[in-house]
Amino acid sequence: MATLPNKSLLPLFFFFLLLISSLFLLSLYPTSPPTPTPPPTLPRPHPKFTLIIKLLTFNRLSALSRCLLSLASAQYDDNIVHLHIYIDHFNISSIGFVEIDQRLNLAKEILGFVNDFEWGFGEKVVHYRTGNAGLQGQWLECWWPSSDHEYAFVVEDDLEVSPLYYRFLKGLILNYYYYNESNFSPMVYGASLQRPRFVPGKHGNKIQLDSDTHLFLYQLVGTWGQLLFPKPWKEFRLWYDDHKAKQIRPILDGMVTTGWYKKMGDKIWTPWFIKFIHSRGYFNIYTNFLGERALSVSHRDAGVNYAKTVGPDSNLVDETSTDLNLMDLAPLSRLKWYDFCFREVLPYRIIKSSNEFESVAQSVQKSDTILLVSVYGVSELITVNLLCHFQKLNIYNYILLGPKSDFMVDLARRGHPVIDADQLFENIGHQKLLKIQKAGEELIKEFMVKSFVIKKCLELGYITWIVDANIIPLSNDSFSNVLDPNIDFHVSETSKLLCVKGSSSAKKIWVDEFVYKVVAIAESSRLKDSSSIGENFVFTVKQLLQQMSIKFVVLDDARFVLNMDGIHDNQTLSRNLEKIVSWPSKMNSDIIKKKLRNFNMWALDEDRSCSAVVCHRS
Ligand SMILES: *[C@@H]1O[C@H](CO)[C@@H](O)[C@H](O)[C@H]1NC(C)=O
Ligand SMILES: *[C@@H]1O[C@H](CO)[C@@H](O)[C@H](O)[C@H]1NC(C)=O
Ligand SMILES: *[C@@H]1O[C@H](CO)[C@@H](O)[C@H](O)[C@H]1NC(C)=O
Ligand SMILES: *[C@@H]1O[C@H](CO)[C@@H](O)[C@H](O)[C@H]1NC(C)=O
Repeated sequence: MATLPNKSLLPLFFFFLLLISSLFLLSLYPTSPPTPTPPPTLPRPHPKFTLIIKLLTFNRLSALSRCLLSLASAQYDDNIVHLHIYIDHFNISSIGFVEIDQRLNLAKEILGFVNDFEWGFGEKVVHYRTGNAGLQGQWLECWWPSSDHEYAFVVEDDLEVSPLYYRFLKGLILNYYYYNESNFSPMVYGASLQRPRFVPGKHGNKIQLDSDTHLFLYQLVGTWGQLLFPKPWKEFRLWYDDHKAKQIRPILDGMVTTGWYKKMGDKIWTPWFIKFIHSRGYFNIYTNFLGERALSVSHRDAGVNYAKTVGPDSNLVDETSTDLNLMDLAPLSRLKWYDFCFREVLPYRIIKSSNEFESVAQSVQKSDTILLVSVYGVSELITVNLLCHFQKLNIYNYILLGPKSDFMVDLARRGHPVIDADQLFENIGHQKLLKIQKAGEELIKEFMVKSFVIKKCLELGYITWIVDANIIPLSNDSFSNVLDPNIDFHVSETSKLLCVKGSSSAKKIWVDEFVYKVVAIAESSRLKDSSSIGENFVFTVKQLLQQMSIKFVVLDDARFVLNMDGIHDNQTLSRNLEKIVSWPSKMNSDIIKKKLRNFNMWALDEDRSCSAVVCHRS
């Protein structure tokens, strides 16, 4: 047994220990001290990532051996790749007495096979469970990333992978995750190597892509060869914990997978992950190769997912697929994004300058009408609730307008077009304006941007509505059925609604001069009277129209608007489907929420996201 040196020598001993260890440290840095981490603007450090294959298996030896063989035959180019095998146990209480020996023997055979299987590319780790974890437990417990540079590639045992799969995954990690800033998006949670075929949103679009599209983004997770990025996976695990502990179930109306959850419960894990991805607005990378090819195929063997063997779902890409250049990875900005309905999503449409307006307006407009939705002074939840109603009603011709905030950027990231009023104001800032801008800057910005954007819409010939987000339309044509075709301007002061026809006469009125006058009136009435009346944009426009003797129609609120206080039962709503529900902007948002909930108009769930996915064929 080793003993410490005696007490008197102890200080000397530690001194030497210190000396030796500092010499050792010096030898690691022979010439210079450790380099500080570079600032974020420099290229990311040379990536040293780790990939771990997480192979989930249970009781299918021949499938497992086919899967392992394909993994071992892939090209790893001298990179280190670890293999972790998770062997689930049979459920002791569901096995009959006569079957026990048979099941025990099968488990022994599988363990023996895995033991003897040589993995020459990194560590092999085997985890043999003592009880039945099922697919959910197997997936969820197979990984907690030990660093931000560790990636997991999860395969179930009835998969077979292409010999080229690793090169492709490596290319994806280096190009689309942290290591290339120009392609990095925190919205991307991984990549699926399976051929995409399934659209989980009920009544969603068919998956149709042109043959030049080799890569695209789609919200749905794949279970046949899924690469997972570390940060989103950790987020998911914490979200899962939170929901599980609070007994919040992963119910997302309008999704086929919610039906699976109701039938299979916690036997499967995908409804949980899908609910999480929906609430965060994240996406997965997919491939699209001609000839039903993919880098990973499922043999769909009998098991938890299939009652009997179905056979391979696709053809494997291999070295003979010379028509494919797998390493031709387009910049992220050129890839298309699709939601659970397989409807194209256009993320990051943020209008910050005058010349960005036209292309965004063109991307949203439908039947020449644009809805400018002001979120000034509207709570985030009320705004998101309105967006859920828009989705339900198939209304997509809106642009949100509001002050710069993380919330607005997040909405843009999720595909809602947004006007950053602060930046746009900077961009259109004009000599005349700078003079009047001193007092009440926020209000001036708001009015200036609103009236400038209306001018832009008219120049493009659109019928333009400006509305406050404190409304909910009850049908998809609430905004069009009240207009007098002979009049250019419609206003509703109480509901803060304004509609301007995209006619040449309206265009002649709403010129730069008009824009400045709106701002000037707001400013003078604000100085005279600090009460809220000058803060109503629509009121200000109406005043100006009156001053200029321009004809306008005051919308008949009784015909057009349903005040929330006037709703007493569900029948009121069904009798007024052509109307817009509205409430005073000063109303407390908790009260609004409570009232909306009473009449089934609160469309958010515990995740503060829409409680349903509603698809419309496009
Ligand atoms: C095991 O089987 C029993 C009886 O069929 C069942 O009640 C139990 O939920 C099963 N356990 C798991 C983890 O599936
Ligand atoms: C990063 O991505 C861009 C866009 O795809 C590409 O042009 C560039 O070469 C990449 N940089 C590196 C270091 O790979
Ligand atoms: C509006 O809704 C009606 C009924 O829900 C539907 O038949 C119609 O196709 C919708 N129109 C548009 C443009 O979405
Ligand atoms: C309105 O209908 C919903 C179900 O459609 C119901 O949950 C709610 O209680 C009803 N509200 C009133 C006030 O009747």
